[in-house]
Amino acid sequence: MITSNENIKLWMAPLHGVTVSRFRNLFFRHFGGIDEVMAPFLPVVDAPNVRARQWKDILPQNNENLKVVPQLMGNDPVQFVNTLHILADMGFTAANWNIGCPMQQIVRKRRGCGLMPHPDLVEKVVEAVCARTTACFSIKMRLGLKSPQEGLELLRRLESYPLDFIVIHPRLGVQQYEGLPDWDAFDTLFAATSHEVVYSGDVWSVADYQRLQQHYPTIRQWMLGRGLLRNPFLAEQIKSSDEAVDKQRFSIFYADLLDSWHASGLTDKGILNSLKELWHYFAVFCDLSDLQLQQLLREDDLVAFEQKSRDAINHIFTK
Ligand SMILES: Cc1cc2nc3c(=O)[nH]c(=O)nc-3n(C[C@H](O)[C@H](O)[C@H](O)COP(=O)(O)O)c2cc1C
Repeated sequence: MITSNENIKLWMAPLHGVTVSRFRNLFFRHFGGIDEVMAPFLPVVDAPNVRARQWKDILPQNNENLKVVPQLMGNDPVQFVNTLHILADMGFTAANWNIGCPMQQIVRKRRGCGLMPHPDLVEKVVEAVCARTTACFSIKMRLGLKSPQEGLELLRRLESYPLDFIVIHPRLGVQQYEGLPDWDAFDTLFAATSHEVVYSGDVWSVADYQRLQQHYPTIRQWMLGRGLLRNPFLAEQIKSSDEAVDKQRFSIFYADLLDSWHASGLTDKGILNSLKELWHYFAVFCDLSDLQLQQLLREDDLVAFEQKSRDAINHIFTK
């Protein structure tokens, strides 16, 4: 069974340092198909410590007509409640909690995926948030840090709380983004919760989406991350079931991206670093070999980098 694609909701996944407001605004000016965005994580704070710089990313004036759900990282119930009150004052009614980030320095501090083996800590935060805020609160997690048993236990504990939804990425934290997703474990977790599950992971093509959609026909919300960056047309393609790509549109998008990055106040080094990060993904769209990508990434002069990257895009027109 394939559910009508009009009824599904597609999210832009949070990618820290990549899907920031500058990128999101640009993306939405050029591509369609995405219904809502989850912003990359912000640390929870005590009320007096809010630092405007970190929060600029989610401010409505920096997100042109986008529905953005802020994401929080932390483990302290009081800080969560304080931060959610700040977000409510800013006009946000929903927020997500990241307990899936696998980065060592975060895991070590019992944040992100480091929380998954500690269901008591997770429950304390959820309990406080549900009792003391009106936020539509959701969670983004993995199968576990080291074992899917962790995810299973967590879902059992979360069953009685009024969560908005739970995003699940079907890998363990120790896998980072390597190796294959564990579908059997995902099946078990999916069956173990009555919360709405949002799926996140390894949707690289319309065929991937359709295969997963057939396997999980009751999942109505899908999150696209690296696949959307590798192919910015992916959400449009999924919604229309038409795999056409408009190379000219990508080229216009990239020209606008360079203009926006120059107008952003970033230093040349900042622009170069940001472009290099994006080219890990754009290289796939432009069909660059590993060697061609390595050669591009070795370029440390911004002007030369821009020229080479434009050449790579022009090259796709000759294919
Ligand atoms: C560079 C990078 C940064 C990420 N940053 C975040 C983040 O800030 N918050 C979060 O919940 N997940 C983050 N993720 C995980 C993604 O949101 C997503 O769940 C994961 O990449 C799997 O989906 P995909 O295969 O569609 O990319 C990040 C992933 C990558 C590769």
